[in-house]
Amino acid sequence: MSRNADLARRFGSPLYVYDLDRVTAARRDLFAALPDGVALYFSFKANPHPEIARALRVAENGAGDGRVCRAEVSSTGELAAAMDAGFDAADVLYTGPGKTNGELTAAIATGVRVFSVESLSDLRHVGAAATGHGVTVDCLLRVNSASTSSSTSIRMTGTPSQFGLDSETLPEILAELRDVPGTRLAGMHLFSLSNAQDEASLIAEFRHTISVAADLHRRLGLPVRLLDIGGGFAAPYLVPGDRPVYPGLRSALAATLDEHFPDWRTGTPEVACESGRHLVGDGGQLVCTVVNVKESRGQRFVILDAGINILGGMSGLGRLLPVTVGFDEEAMAGEVDLGRLETANLVGPLCTPGDILGRGVPAPALSPGDVVTIPNAGAYGVTASLLMFLGRPAPVEVILRGDEVVSASRIEFHRKYE
Ligand SMILES: Cc1ncc(COP(=O)(O)O)c(C=O)c1O
Repeated sequence: MSRNADLARRFGSPLYVYDLDRVTAARRDLFAALPDGVALYFSFKANPHPEIARALRVAENGAGDGRVCRAEVSSTGELAAAMDAGFDAADVLYTGPGKTNGELTAAIATGVRVFSVESLSDLRHVGAAATGHGVTVDCLLRVNSASTSSSTSIRMTGTPSQFGLDSETLPEILAELRDVPGTRLAGMHLFSLSNAQDEASLIAEFRHTISVAADLHRRLGLPVRLLDIGGGFAAPYLVPGDRPVYPGLRSALAATLDEHFPDWRTGTPEVACESGRHLVGDGGQLVCTVVNVKESRGQRFVILDAGINILGGMSGLGRLLPVTVGFDEEAMAGEVDLGRLETANLVGPLCTPGDILGRGVPAPALSPGDVVTIPNAGAYGVTASLLMFLGRPAPVEVILRGDEVVSASRIEFHRKYE
């Protein structure tokens, strides 16, 4: 029996299986691809499981391993996960366009002192919460640059958006931005893309971002104690494939920073990047079971016990990139007949025609009870889904280190009457 089938038998199906060694390897590889001295925030939105986050926080070889992630969070839940995982509140960057007073107050009470702000009013909200605690917090102005560079998978600047301050409006509101009690402008945050299509477009985007930041710094005197240049580090999602490597990034990024911010190597500014999917995407798999197989008007439907309620739910609603899942044949070896491929529509168990994980997907000849594995599901899996949809239980999340089961847990929902 394959390891995943064994885990499904022990813990129930469907389940997410995460491999801490892969998460650690992704952290090490990404730090190696970044110039020395560049900090890296782990974006909890990709996967807030505390054990996964801890693997990004703790150097497994003690001090020798060196570079560990900080935390980028955008909710009280993500902040709690970061604290559970052993992150220091001083290493947290709090982001997001809809920070409520309650969230801000909780974050400041926890010790968070760095916030990314998306507008003058957002800055004022942060300032009011900070003043309420008698502290002054550092704020990064998230900039929505008027110009853009390469084409990308998910672009987040250059258009009207809830994210960031429009760069062309900065001159007229700068005095007000500088004068919000409880806040100190500490730098800029530019997050312009997610999941870059290749290394060349990732580098082009960073070059553009750094030149925009340098221009705003020079022209307007915007402070840059901390410069967060965003991310775009890619990962395959729910289909077989390897995490990309970035052999040219380290020198290209260093050269661009040298050109625009000659003192960055001595910490002026301190430069940081962000990553979610690249750090955790290939560390997870979704293991599920075929419930039924049926034909309809000449098409084969493989009905799984996992649907958009626990995987890629936002895609199911047409909100994100369309998802087509693939199978991890290596993980399934010994479970199903991989020799005979058919074309199938992979669907979940929900009573909605939207519950489709893939149309016309090449799949082995599957039967009820077969355990199948969807690869590269470590990012934007269980917590980017319609978890509570149709009242189905959450999947188990199993954490492995090598062959050892570190933990198995299930998110449970409780109705709380106010
Ligand atoms: C501000 C910000 N940081 C980080 C991320 C994480 O992106 P990814 O998982 O592609 O690295 C996102 C994703 O949308 C984001 O909006």
